[in-house]
Amino acid sequence: MKSADIRKQFIDFFKENGHKEFKTSSLIPDDDSMLFTTAGMVQMVPFLLREKEIEHTRVCSIQKSFRTVDINSIGIDGRHNTFFEMLGSWSFGDYYKKGAIEIAYKLLVDVFKLDKNKLWVSIFKGNSEIPYDSESFAIWRSLGIEEERIVKLGEDNFWGPTSLEGPCGPSTEIYYDLGESIGCGRNTCRPGCDCDRFLEIWNAGVFMEYYKFENGFSKLPYTNVDTGAGLERLALVLQNVTSVFKTDLFLPIVEKIKSSNVKSLNDKSVNIIADHIRGITFLIADGIIPTNEYRGYILRRLIRRAMVQVILMKGEFPYLASIAQTVIEEYSYQYPELKKNEKKIIDTINKEEQLFQKTLRKGFAILDILYDKTKSTNTRKFVSGENMFLLHDTYGLSIDLLEDIIVTSEKDRDIFEKEMKTFNLLLRNQQEKSRMGSSFTVGKSMEQELLDIPRTQFVGFDTLETAPSRVLYVLDMGEDVQFVLDKTPFFAESGGQIGDSGIVLGNNVKIYVENVRKTKNGVFVHQGKYEKNSDKIKENDLLECMVDSTKRLKASNNHTATHLLGKAIKIVLGGSVVQKGSLITPDQIRFDFNFEKPLSDDEIQKIEDIVNGEIKKNSKIIIENITYKDAKDRNIDLPFDDRYSRDEKLRLVKIGDFSEELCGGTHKGTIGNFGKFKIIKQESVGKGVRRVRANLSK
Ligand code: ALA
Repeated sequence: MKSADIRKQFIDFFKENGHKEFKTSSLIPDDDSMLFTTAGMVQMVPFLLREKEIEHTRVCSIQKSFRTVDINSIGIDGRHNTFFEMLGSWSFGDYYKKGAIEIAYKLLVDVFKLDKNKLWVSIFKGNSEIPYDSESFAIWRSLGIEEERIVKLGEDNFWGPTSLEGPCGPSTEIYYDLGESIGCGRNTCRPGCDCDRFLEIWNAGVFMEYYKFENGFSKLPYTNVDTGAGLERLALVLQNVTSVFKTDLFLPIVEKIKSSNVKSLNDKSVNIIADHIRGITFLIADGIIPTNEYRGYILRRLIRRAMVQVILMKGEFPYLASIAQTVIEEYSYQYPELKKNEKKIIDTINKEEQLFQKTLRKGFAILDILYDKTKSTNTRKFVSGENMFLLHDTYGLSIDLLEDIIVTSEKDRDIFEKEMKTFNLLLRNQQEKSRMGSSFTVGKSMEQELLDIPRTQFVGFDTLETAPSRVLYVLDMGEDVQFVLDKTPFFAESGGQIGDSGIVLGNNVKIYVENVRKTKNGVFVHQGKYEKNSDKIKENDLLECMVDSTKRLKASNNHTATHLLGKAIKIVLGGSVVQKGSLITPDQIRFDFNFEKPLSDDEIQKIEDIVNGEIKKNSKIIIENITYKDAKDRNIDLPFDDRYSRDEKLRLVKIGDFSEELCGGTHKGTIGNFGKFKIIKQESVGKGVRRVRANLSK
């Protein structure tokens, strides 16, 4: 079946089943904190959250999507792509598990005529917080899928929120068995195995019925179904081939590459170019241009990676624009924006090729020098992890290519693998950086890396400036830098309160600190940008710290006001109300708590009056350091019990005799100067959970 027919039959089938077709949205999401449109659900989020009024409870789409998570598998396994088309369907509070599973199964078996004996499925096996999805199991069984072909998986079958919080739920996925001849050959091989035998063809239902908070889940008052199937993989199965690059979606592009000006063809390079050129063409059509940051950076890397493959195949530039031309010709009937932007696509690619050619050839030459040097001294072939990253990141030499060139003996491999650790760390940090846009997290790799670094001494309760602190760790990323100090006045994001910003100074060093996070072990990671002419820092340097005091004071005031709000809510709505989460910035307070119904105007007024009354009283903030045992003996709430180590000193924050709460946040200042407290919005974020937003104004 041709891919054009797969698209058409998919949409026709869902329309016949009462779904409204939504046109594809751009690869650039409306939400600027998201890098790209990674799935059909991206344009549906406002409906999933009931932020937009739902006109159609059943929806389907063919969505242009782009992901880079699997970029290193591209060209090797024949099943991953950066750009792909996602065939998706949604139910917003309409049918649920039974409807979703039955529709998916019917399409695959009755319309696409797949052999049902080759279909396997996976369901969520449950964990300590979310139960095993027995309902999906029973539905699959009722359709005749044998018990052995229903595999219970963990995390892979739980679709988490796109950020720390959000709607989520268990999922069920459909796999196609490509046969024993493909894959590991073990008789225990099942979906979820690392090998290629079972191809996931459809995430047939994310059953969104939970909302994840920082410290737990709540049940949503409604249910959603979100599904997605990659067109490329369906085409692989329906066209009975072994790689997406052999489907009609890629054949004309692959042919064009093969017949272009290259002297030394290899399949891997051809496939990488074929994959990347689609991404390049579509991204430019949607308005991205190559730059050094965020989305533009990803496009730039894609072009450069494709260029490396051209060099490897001994091709000549200009090269890629003519391949993009084929993409435009092949895809414009479905995506007219390509034809419309033809000139821009061709010009952008040609310009970037011209710009990068020299650098790339230089990168190859640099590697040659490193290689020759080691050869001529007849010692090991050593390229450090930092140099590998430089060659990879700045000169566009992919790591597989570096590996091919550097590793020629087992001894080389040992050295290479050791250096890869540094390389991977640098790479992961950079990926985390581009994923997060301007914000950052202490990722898993960083947590690991910092295990041996002692807990940071936080001195910022008492001071906002320090005499020199010593640098214990540095991760340099061009103009960006992350570093750890032995002591710091910078508050690290926690307990809802956002991290501090400010400046650090050293000998010829100036860094603007933008945010601070801490690891599970209490190591504070400062993230910042070097000033233009600043020297780089290194371990053992001494730095002076200066926290932005205005921002800190506003965040502190809002945090103290959050305690007043929490107590006022308990007084007005009842003592059983428990805080579920909060976000405290210099400008706003967001406070979540369990409560069944919207707050009435009268309740809101009462809460505001109580908080403003306390502000007027100008009570003192008193901080008491107590032990875990004291807290227990005195019956003080330990809401997030497990977060408090039993050996540690706890901070009890008292506001006059009105409120008393254990808290690690910064509370200081004169309450009487807080200004007027106002609740500006209330909303629901899950079954039985309310959210209020409030602020202080002068
Ligand atoms: N959003 C789900 C996915 O991308 C359907 O797999």
